[in-house]
Amino acid sequence: MAFRTHILGAAAGGGLPQWNCGCPNCNAARRGEIPAQTQSSLAVTGDGEHWAILNASPDIRAQLMDCAALHPTDLRALPLHSVLVTNGDIDHVAGLLTLREMQPFQLFATETIHGVLRDNPIFDALNASVVSRQPIALDAPFNLAPGLSATLFAVPGKVPLYMEGETVETQLLGENTVGVELIAGGKRVYYIPGCACLNDDLRTRLTGADLLFFDGTLWADDEMITNRLGQKTGARMGHMSMSGDSGSLHAFDGLGIARKVFVHMNNTNPVLRPDSAERATAEAAGWTIVTDGMEVTP
Ligand code: MLT
Ligand code: MN
Ligand code: ZN
Repeated sequence: MAFRTHILGAAAGGGLPQWNCGCPNCNAARRGEIPAQTQSSLAVTGDGEHWAILNASPDIRAQLMDCAALHPTDLRALPLHSVLVTNGDIDHVAGLLTLREMQPFQLFATETIHGVLRDNPIFDALNASVVSRQPIALDAPFNLAPGLSATLFAVPGKVPLYMEGETVETQLLGENTVGVELIAGGKRVYYIPGCACLNDDLRTRLTGADLLFFDGTLWADDEMITNRLGQKTGARMGHMSMSGDSGSLHAFDGLGIARKVFVHMNNTNPVLRPDSAERATAEAAGWTIVTDGMEVTP
């Protein structure tokens, strides 16, 4: 099968365990009782040979070491063709700094997100003469890698956390937060690691998909608050939660999606514990909770 996806990192920003977090999940991961997970990233190939990385996490160095399909094939020859970022959040762009070393690849993002990177001169470490930055318009298909077509589309979200002003629009539609449609070998796959809510446009778009990777940040909207780890709800962070009447477990019912997979789980999410009731509930609703290194074939 040529169309393959490889979970480089299953966790949200911070990872599991998060360096400063003493919550039960993080402590269980430190003790090796549940699997630790690195930060949000997915590798995809349409031809089994050329790969694209969707989101460059701060853990990318270790992620690449653990993924044989992405290892160098010659002195400086790599299966990596391109990197695409879906927003400007640190968990999705900080890994770009690791990808310096004069290695050519194409860097895809919306013009807005390229602007965020341009405004941070540290990203000039990716030498423009070897890493070509390609601005991608919404709803226009482009070649992400040989044999792999992609289309970016707006999903409800917000500006990166470090760019928030006094007031924050959490369901902004535009170039700040995008989802990716991937097409290869007649299969239609979606990658949406951050999404504030499921609107009619998304519902229509995703209906009948072969495979969906979706925002699994929180189980409950108030999880950070009830765990005494912060004041923000999932909604405030621009993430739709799994449970509840408007949660993703309900919202995706009846859309005829062949395979539904959660990615970008926050370390507080109980589904990260393989024996939790919440994990069983999510699986009973037809969802897979991925872990680092998993391959998912559409
Ligand atoms: C998020 O997904 O909400 C962000 O990654 C938060 C962050 O930048 O820490
Ligand atoms: Mn994130
Ligand atoms: Zn934690």
